[in-house]
Amino acid sequence: MSKEKNETIIELKAVTKRYGFGDAESFALHNFDLIVKRGEFIMIMGPSGCGKTTLLNIIGLLDKPTTGEYLLNGKNVEHISSRKKAHFRAKEIGFIFQNFNLIPNLSVIENVSLPLIYSGYHKVRRLKKADDILERFHLREREYYMPHQLSGGQQQRVAISRSLISAPSIILADEPTGNLDSRNSHIIMEELRDIHAQGNTIIMVTHNPALTTYATRVINMLDGEIDTDIKTVDDSELPRPGDPEKISVRILSKKRPVELEVDSKTKVVVSGQHVTIENDKIKPKSTKKKTDNKAKKKHKAEKKES
Ligand SMILES: Nc1ncnc2c1ncn2[C@@H]1O[C@H](COP(=O)(O)OP(=O)(O)OP(=O)(O)O)[C@@H](O)[C@H]1O
Ligand SMILES: [Mg+2]
Repeated sequence: MSKEKNETIIELKAVTKRYGFGDAESFALHNFDLIVKRGEFIMIMGPSGCGKTTLLNIIGLLDKPTTGEYLLNGKNVEHISSRKKAHFRAKEIGFIFQNFNLIPNLSVIENVSLPLIYSGYHKVRRLKKADDILERFHLREREYYMPHQLSGGQQQRVAISRSLISAPSIILADEPTGNLDSRNSHIIMEELRDIHAQGNTIIMVTHNPALTTYATRVINMLDGEIDTDIKTVDDSELPRPGDPEKISVRILSKKRPVELEVDSKTKVVVSGQHVTIENDKIKPKSTKKKTDNKAKKKHKAEKKES
């Protein structure tokens, strides 16, 4: 799979989804056109029943359009065998749902390792991978809890860990913060922001307009069609896999906290009251002179002594 800039990964052409026939006929999607570039973070909004979930299900290969074409990485999905589709779904697509969809009688670590059952890995390796990703989401100490023993925010972090364990490049999230309070919503959104910054593509449904600040594009749907479609980030500025990851660093001091954003190639060293930021582009003021002077003084003193 090529990872070139501005690459189209998803293309829907005049997609229609019809339910029922005759008098009972209704359209969940109507002549729906959509082009998604790799690295977009799209938020889908719109009233209940306008077709948001139907759209995600079609994009995620869980449902089929009634008419129209769906091209995934340039290939018409109609021509992809169901075995390949299942493989693609397991490897490349991560789903996150509003009600978490964890399996109640499996522990946290078993839930998270579940998607790897199709990977062919041995159980020990699956659990090790689940353990690694749970550590990233600060849930390692709760690995052997059952889902009902966790808070809503923790359950959603488990669900996100599970959706990411196969390192998918497309994340589809259907109101992932719908059942969470604003603090936990914020934590989940920060996680999604990080995942996006690594060059992954996210399509997320939300009813909360405040969350659209995280998106690079906001689509409003109405009656199975696109009502408005606004890009807030140019395609050329979208993150790509392999871009240095941006990390927020907060340094708390008595006077005032300092927050800075650095990429993963930058080294931030905190020593006592001193903070040094080392980056190829930002060179710290040369400390060479000082050391040279110190060395000279030391040398002189040694000479005197002798
Ligand atoms: N299996 C089905 N059979 C018949 N109609 C369906 C089916 N699934 C969805 N629909 C209809 O398709 C339309 C779109 O449903 P969809 O679930 O995509 O809406 P939504 O935008 O996700 O709504 P919400 O915000 O409430 O989740 C609705 O009118 C719904 O009743
Ligand atoms: Mg829905």
